[in-house]
Parts: sequence; C-alpha cells; structure tokens
Amino acid sequence: MPSYKKKAFCYTVTAALPYANGPIHIGHLAGAYLPADIYARYLRSKKERVVFIGGSDEHGVPITISAQKEGISPQQVVDSYHALNRKTFEDFGISFDIFSRTSSKLHQKTASDFFIKLYEKGIFEVHETKQFYDQAHQQFLADRYIKGTCPRCNYEEAYGDQCESCGTTLSPNELINPKSVLSGKKPTLKATKHWYLPLDTYEDWLKSWIIKGHQEWKKNVYGQCKSWIDQGLRPRAVTRDLDWGVPVPLQEAKGKVLYVWFDAPIGYISATKEWAATNNQDWEPFWKDPKTKLVHFVGKDNIVFHCIIFPVMLKAHGDFILPENVPANEFLNLEGNKLSTSRNWAVWLHEYLVDFSNKQDVLRYVICANAPEAKDSDFSWKDFQAKNNNELVAILGNFIHRSLVLTHKYFDGIVPERMHITSIDEEVVNQIKKRPDQIGDAIAHFKFKEGIQLLMELARIGNKYLADTEPWKLIKHDVGRVKTILNLTLQLIATMAILAEPFLPFTSKKLRAMLQLNELMWDDAGNTHLLQPGRKIKAPTLLFEKIEDTFIEQQISKLKAHNLYSA
Ligand code: MF3
Ligand code: ZN
Repeated sequence: MPSYKKKAFCYTVTAALPYANGPIHIGHLAGAYLPADIYARYLRSKKERVVFIGGSDEHGVPITISAQKEGISPQQVVDSYHALNRKTFEDFGISFDIFSRTSSKLHQKTASDFFIKLYEKGIFEVHETKQFYDQAHQQFLADRYIKGTCPRCNYEEAYGDQCESCGTTLSPNELINPKSVLSGKKPTLKATKHWYLPLDTYEDWLKSWIIKGHQEWKKNVYGQCKSWIDQGLRPRAVTRDLDWGVPVPLQEAKGKVLYVWFDAPIGYISATKEWAATNNQDWEPFWKDPKTKLVHFVGKDNIVFHCIIFPVMLKAHGDFILPENVPANEFLNLEGNKLSTSRNWAVWLHEYLVDFSNKQDVLRYVICANAPEAKDSDFSWKDFQAKNNNELVAILGNFIHRSLVLTHKYFDGIVPERMHITSIDEEVVNQIKKRPDQIGDAIAHFKFKEGIQLLMELARIGNKYLADTEPWKLIKHDVGRVKTILNLTLQLIATMAILAEPFLPFTSKKLRAMLQLNELMWDDAGNTHLLQPGRKIKAPTLLFEKIEDTFIEQQISKLKAHNLYSA
C-alpha cells in the first residue's frame, strides 16, 4: 500500500514564510503557495486532520536593509508588508489556518526556548572569529550586508549568505572582493563570538535519513540534498551581530540575535501554537506525534534550509518530528527572464487583482498547469491568454454552460432522470467513478500539474459526449435519451465541482451554487447519483470570459516599461 494511504494522525502543512519586505509575486505562488494550498484543501476534503501554517518572516538582514533604504524602522516595514501579504493570500484563496508573524511575543519565546534547549544539551560550538565590519557605520556586516563575487559562478552581486545566481549558500569570507552594502567600501575584520550548529557531526545521520531513507522525495530536491551532503557540511553560525531579531537568550550574548534562518522555521511551530490556542486545539500532536506528517512547501532556494538545517535543529532538540517530505518546486521564469524583485521583473499578485479582478482562478489555473514541478518553467502573458481562452473558456466553461443551458431549455432547470444506459453513457459513468482516485493520487504525490490535467480532461470528455450524442437533435423524437444524457452531464459537473475545489476554489464555489449543492467532500465524488432527479438547478452564471489582446498587450508593455532588464 502506498505510504500516503495509511491514515496519518495529523498533517502539518507549511508554506515558506515570506520575508515581510516586499509583496508576493507569481514566482512565490508557483514555487510554494499554490501547491501547498491545493494539498491542504485536498486533505481537508478527504476529512483528514490538517493544519496549514503560514506567516511572515520578519527578521533578518533583508528587512533591516529595506528599512534603511526606505528610511523607516524595521517594525514599520514588516507591519505594512505583513498586512499586504496576508490580504493577498486571502484574496487568492490560499487557505492558511493561520497567517502568523515572527515578531510576535509567542514566537520570540518559542525560538528562545528552542535555542536554550540546544544550548543546555551542549549542541552548539562557540567560536571567536574575525568578521567583516563597516568602520564608518560601526556595524558588523552579516549576510546580505556584504556583497561580492561568488566563488562558484563569478556572479558579482552575490550576498554574504547566498548567491542568487547559482543558488550556492555562502559565508561572507568566501566572497571574492567583498564590499559593504552600507558604505560600498571594503570592510575591515573584527573579532566576535558566535554559536554554531555543528552540521558536520550530523552528516552520517543525514546520509541515512535522506540519502537512504527518503529516496521517494522529488528528484530535484533529493539531488540538491545529496550534492550538499556529498560536498561535506560545515558548522554554521546561528547567531548574528545585529539589533533586529530574537535576542540570543544568554547573558554573554548582549547585542546579538538569532540568525534569521534559525528563528524563521521555528515560526511554523509558534504559529501552530497560536492557531491551537485560538481554536481550542492541542498543538503538540501536530509537531510531536510520530504518526503526523509534516510537509514543507518551499521554493528551490529554500531546499537546504528545510531539508538539512531545520531537520538537524529538530533532531538536535529531540522533542519534534521530522519532515515527511519537502516537495519543493524549481523556478518560474517570466517571459523568458528570471523573476527579480530588484529588477522589477515580476507580476505582483495584488496588482494582478486590480487589472483582472475576480480572476484568481485563471491565474491559479495557468500557474498550476505550468508549474515548475520538475524543472524551471516560463510564464508568458500570451500563454496566460491562450490557456484562459482555449482551455478555461472553450473547454471547461463551454461544457458547463451548454449543459446547464440545455437543462433549462428542455426541462425548466429540473434535473432529469436517467433512463437506459448505453455504452457511450457507460464511458461517462466510468470516468465519474475513477477520476476522484486518479486526481487524489496525483495530489497526494505532489503532481499537481497532472491533477489539473486530469480534471480538465473531464470537461473534454463532457464536451465530446455532447458532440457525439447531439441531444439538441434527439429532443424532437427521443426525450428519454436527452434526459439520460443531461442527467449524466450534470452528474459530471457535480463531480467536477468537488474535484476542482483544491485547484479552482472560486469556480468550485460558483458551481456548487449553480447546482444548489452543499459543501461536498472528496469521497462524495465518484457517486454518479449526486444530483437527485427532480431538484432544481440555477441558471448558469459566467465562469470564465475571453481575454482580449489589448489586456495582454497592456500587461506586456507594463512589464517592459518599468524593469531593469531592458534598461
Ligand atoms: N523568508 C524566507 C524566504 O523568503 C523563507 C523562510 S521559510 C522559514 O526565502 F522556514 F524560515 F520559515
Ligand atoms: Zn554563484
């Protein structure tokens, strides 16, 4: 039996906590949030016990740099982006059970306690080293405060903690020709003391846990982990000389904070506690029960933190379960170029909704159908238009619309009864029966693209059924046949209303309203008598509409006008 079919006690589903220093763009949606949402919605529909955790990552150098640039405090930066991003996720139907934040008191305590536990277990190494220091600004230059040339790929704008070009995780002293982001000058070196997580001592454990134990992980994820482990791991500092973050809870560490990548993933635990407290639930089963499945949805650049560093933290701590899977996606590009916030090469979700109001499901559809599941993929406005016009409108919308219109025309919107079934009807019946499991299996295996294709195929099958049986011709001499045909197309639509919910929740809701169906669960699908004959359905409302060229051209020129690729 495949492992996902054994009932887990709970599912803890997390999506990477976005830095609260900028809005959310389509790359974020494609990389982590949409797949996480589809997965969580599916599990709820299967009546599993699931908590879906999100929130803002409010610490770290990305935040303080934004604050400095904008001339405001870090708290002001995170307050405004936390509010914006929370609303964006809500608007797109990303169904977090909680969208928390790492500047909360509860998180400070949870992260501090976590550190203390490791400290008391004697896990950390303490090293005094010389680190880059900006004399003019009297500040140590942690992570992104330092830029230089990547020793791997020679990209000249690599950060002290990571090269965004080749994805390598770095430490500042590996950079060639380092420069302070604050003054632009070559930094000096100054001694400082930090606490290190000895990743090297976990190498053997990681080999058996991941390389032997998790061969079922996605190839791109497994491959990245393997190459990390094969290269050999080094101790990694988990404290920083900064004044923004969770203070290191030790007397001797005044003026130091936890490294953002130490505190942020603990944010998943803090958020679960907060959710439990406000919902009269117990948080512990979600993090401590060995039967619970912990699944982290993240983008490609977060793989190492969720597959290696956080698991080592959890393992070292000892009270917590480890992730069952980290189904990370690769990158989504935009019109052939890498998405980039600094170059303003992105489609921002909150702006999309201004230009395409109520078209959340169109973007969800296009991104899912084109998801970078196994390799990088590309989003283009022309493809967006084509998928909307040729698939959502011409196939899905068209099938549903025709079926409902015919039902109203011939039977006053009353679901007709089914008479004798012929072999052509049998095929539709079989499809209704087998699709729920097929799509469910795809989702459970993180094959969301396959899942949405299987869903779309149901509409294709429906259209073909109508074209082959031609009820508009039969109505003159064989009303009984027409009843059977429309009964079946309506059952097909009811099935689709359920199976579409994880992918296209707004459309699913409209469908249920049209069919006057209550909230249905996944296992109700597959029943070919969901809609009882005699019940009234509503007139069809618009599900999808054609998007004209002018709208697409506007988006393309907007993109080209304000970016630094073309500059
Ligand atoms: N803020 C990070 C990013 O945007 C992701 C943090 S995920 C967490 O890349 F695990 F730390 F929460
Ligand atoms: Zn590089």
